[in-house]
Amino acid sequence: MQKIQRDEILILSVNDQPVGHLWFSFLWSEIPFIDLIYIKEECRKRGLSRVLLGYLEAYLQARGFDVLYSSSQMDEPEPQAWHRHLGFTECGVIAGLNDGGIGEVFFRKAIYSRGHY
Ligand SMILES: CC(C)(COP(=O)(O)OP(=O)(O)OC[C@H]1O[C@@H](n2cnc3c(N)ncnc32)[C@H](O)[C@@H]1OP(=O)(O)O)[C@@H](O)C(=O)NCCC(=O)NCCS
Repeated sequence: MQKIQRDEILILSVNDQPVGHLWFSFLWSEIPFIDLIYIKEECRKRGLSRVLLGYLEAYLQARGFDVLYSSSQMDEPEPQAWHRHLGFTECGVIAGLNDGGIGEVFFRKAIYSRGHY
């Protein structure tokens, strides 16, 4: 509920049907960070995550932000590959952050140029 009140959830719809969402927040209330991006399985590989990410980047650029952070579990190579493909670069790891002692890898993307998407 608080995320909705703060405008920190994007819902992507196709033909009035929700097909994906992106949750974001601000580290230390200042630094934009993707909590989660999710596209329904049957709707993947059609460019929809690119649409959601592009919208968030434009939204943040318009508010003066020039960098976006995100993260992924160390044992999940696909989300990591997605981040790299969409222009994120790895910027650090927090060891043991998740259940089972699994680390979390962090990513950063400069968003000052629309040419990056
Ligand atoms: C990762 C996820 C959001 C991708 O959504 P999608 O709509 O299928 O992705 P798109 O079709 O927009 O793909 C955009 C680009 O990324 C590429 N891509 C998609 N998934 C990829 C993957 N797992 N690894 C590498 N590249 C990938 C596509 O080939 C495409 O490249 P192109 O535009 O240069 O041709 C989706 O698979 C998902 O919801 N996964 C489960 C949740 C998750 O892991 N989220 C990410 C971490 S929070």
